[in-house]
Amino acid sequence: MKTIASTSELRSSLAQHRREGKTIAFVPTMGNLHAGHIELVRNARNQADIVVVSIFVNPMQFGANEDLDNYPRTLTADKEKLFAEGTQYLFFPSAKEIYPGGMENQTRVSVPELADTLCGSSRPGHFTGVATVVSKLFNIVQPDQAFFGKKDFQQLAIIKKMVADLCIPVDVIGIDTARAKDGLALSSRNGYLNKQERQSAPLLQQQLQQCAEAISMGNTDFEVLEQQAREALTSAGFSPDYFQVCDAYTLHPPSTHSTELVIATAARLGSTRLIDNITVTLNPSQKHGHSH
Ligand code: PAJ
Repeated sequence: MKTIASTSELRSSLAQHRREGKTIAFVPTMGNLHAGHIELVRNARNQADIVVVSIFVNPMQFGANEDLDNYPRTLTADKEKLFAEGTQYLFFPSAKEIYPGGMENQTRVSVPELADTLCGSSRPGHFTGVATVVSKLFNIVQPDQAFFGKKDFQQLAIIKKMVADLCIPVDVIGIDTARAKDGLALSSRNGYLNKQERQSAPLLQQQLQQCAEAISMGNTDFEVLEQQAREALTSAGFSPDYFQVCDAYTLHPPSTHSTELVIATAARLGSTRLIDNITVTLNPSQKHGHSH
């Protein structure tokens, strides 16, 4: 595995592979790799000849009061894991390499509508930071396929829309959420949880499951279900940002035309912000039963 910090060096290495007719799969990350990231790398490995993983803690997607400085950086362990999975290239650029002129005057990519709800409401500018860096990384790597986790459901939807709207020639593939045995979605931020918080954390997934089951049984009082879940989370010590039943494509409240729903939630446990989601397919008899 080659670790490369320079855009031009990565480009010339990859150009060589492309000339040889090799396909390239790309997995963008912020490092502190866990089994969820590794699932993406395995899928990439199965689909393409060359696997490129990036580790870049992107300052543009962090708010002023967020955890940019404390974000876990574990390069040595990350490299070992990537090497063990057969990754050929680790792209590990500095902030200066990605934003040579600083961030202030950087051209930005903003994805309307999808970026304004859910996490977009509580993290203004976050998804513009994500879409901007991912489009830059796509232009640097020019992969055939790029792999993203469904854990960050809104992020995946935004990247898919960006790629379609800007005609970026890459196939964006979503991968199921990897979880701990007790159901908690794996996340680099789980390391911030103390012992007691870690014990409470699986409730997030349990509430999503309970809500999904209620909907599958025919309950379409979404606002009541959301409220019940928020109350259960609050009683257990969470501060919910949102717990929302949405149309899986628009991320807005379900309409009479909705067939695929996603229930998405973000909640703070102590100072740690956790997110998770679950999808539900409405059966045809439910489809026309409810409108907001
Ligand atoms: P990061 O949080 O490091 O996540 C990198 C990728 O791993 C994302 O596509 C994310 O959805 C996926 N992932 C995280 N936890 C997962 C889990 N438990 N199961 C499956 N996949 C999981 O997301 C980012 O970085 C950044 O926003 C990035 C896209 C790299 C842009 O900076």
